[in-house]
Amino acid sequence: MTRSRRLRSSCGPTGRYPVSSSRTPAGKPPRPVPGTAATRSRPTRAGWETVGATAAPYPYDDEPPATNRLDADGIADVVESFREGARRAREAGFEIAEVHAAHGYLLHQFLSPVTNDRDDEYGGSFRNRTRLVREVTAAVRDEFGDEKPVFVRISATDWLDDRDSWDVEQSVRLADDLSDAGADLIDVSSGGIHPDQDVDWVGPNYQVRFAERIREERDTDVKVGAVGGITTAEQADALVRNERADLAFVGRKFLRDPYFPLHAAADLGREDAVDIPVQYQRGF
Ligand SMILES: Cc1cc2nc3c(=O)[nH]c(=O)nc-3n(C[C@H](O)[C@H](O)[C@H](O)COP(=O)(O)O)c2cc1C
Repeated sequence: MTRSRRLRSSCGPTGRYPVSSSRTPAGKPPRPVPGTAATRSRPTRAGWETVGATAAPYPYDDEPPATNRLDADGIADVVESFREGARRAREAGFEIAEVHAAHGYLLHQFLSPVTNDRDDEYGGSFRNRTRLVREVTAAVRDEFGDEKPVFVRISATDWLDDRDSWDVEQSVRLADDLSDAGADLIDVSSGGIHPDQDVDWVGPNYQVRFAERIREERDTDVKVGAVGGITTAEQADALVRNERADLAFVGRKFLRDPYFPLHAAADLGREDAVDIPVQYQRGF
């Protein structure tokens, strides 16, 4: 393989996106900002082919890219791809593997009646809609090994009470099923399956009620994590100490304060819990 081919093949399907240049070559238009609608993957732009539980495209308000409904072989490939991912994560030394089954991604599409219109063994009943995420979780558990935890992130609700959709009752059942499949912890988020979602409120602890409900109603000893609007050490500490969740996940706070773990340890009087690099220790 030539060097340029090797670079292309290791840098995604087009070989262009992960490497940025500080200049725009003369005569070429600037590229759109990653993460904007203009960069959504489309085969006509050398993007990926989109696959899903259904052939119905995601209802973007502009032209949605076509979606290919996965057949039985495609579904088996998905399970194997997750297994391979878990193997690579184990070999790379990651401490936790988390299966993403939330936010409208592929596994969530199978769970939700909003996007799952299948009539095979992966659609229809609760048991069928949850089959893929159970198979993926079992494969990841098997490949990641017994020593390290496997988490699964779910959307506890689609926020679509006006139609047949995924909700908290189903999430409670799923949590126990995923425990049986080998998950150690369910990371409870919400939404993302459809733009009509009607999120009632977003503020401090806004998704904690779902984690708390799953934790209260589960039959297994699967652990439950809460995420969403957790921004202080005291808030996270109180959630766990009051047994509302077994773990608090923090997202956006890290974007604003990458030193949050150090600040949180100081706020809780637990500087001993943080490994300060030797070179920095005089600063603490
Ligand atoms: C810029 C940004 C990118 C995100 N990307 C992901 C993602 O790739 N996968 C995911 O599960 N959640 C993602 N999230 C959601 C966060 O993981 C988290 O669930 C959400 O922000 C709520 O938690 P927070 O209030 O602590 O930020 C993202 C959030 C932001 C702000």
